[in-house]
Amino acid sequence: MKEITLSTKLKAYDTTGELPETYQQLLEKARLALKESYAPYSHFHVGAAILLENGSIALGANQENAAYPMCLCAERVALSNAVMQQPGVPIVAIAITVHNPAKAIRVPAAPCGSCRQAICEAESRQDKPIVLILQGSEGPIYVIESGNAILPLGFHGGYL
Ligand code: THU
Repeated sequence: MKEITLSTKLKAYDTTGELPETYQQLLEKARLALKESYAPYSHFHVGAAILLENGSIALGANQENAAYPMCLCAERVALSNAVMQQPGVPIVAIAITVHNPAKAIRVPAAPCGSCRQAICEAESRQDKPIVLILQGSEGPIYVIESGNAILPLGFHGGYL
């Protein structure tokens, strides 16, 4: 028997001002995307902005439904928008932020397991990592070099 440790490295910034300017701008776009969040059931708003290699930006916000399992996460809405608006153009980064009217969220907004899986699929499709820029409604920002880093031991097409 041997023990294997899987570890994740990330960069934590205290303020948006410390981020590289491109990431600041992308986070700002994710915050703007919150306006299109449709969340009458959870009242939890998520905004995402994707930066593509040609400089264009695709947005996403969560879209809920009275049939709860149909809810669409902001990240996957943004991924779909990116591929439809700019087919074949690789994704460089995705910024994610949240708004909860009931309380300030001071921890970075981590994507759910399904969105991690979708981000990893996009990475393997384009054979390039996607940088994740995560912030709550305020507070520190995490920058993570790939989706793969936050989905250790993930299922992937290599098994099929
Ligand atoms: N949500 C996202 O948009 N992204 C995630 O990664 C986690 C959750 C949305 C789905 C639902 O509309 C609300 O947040 C509460 O779960």
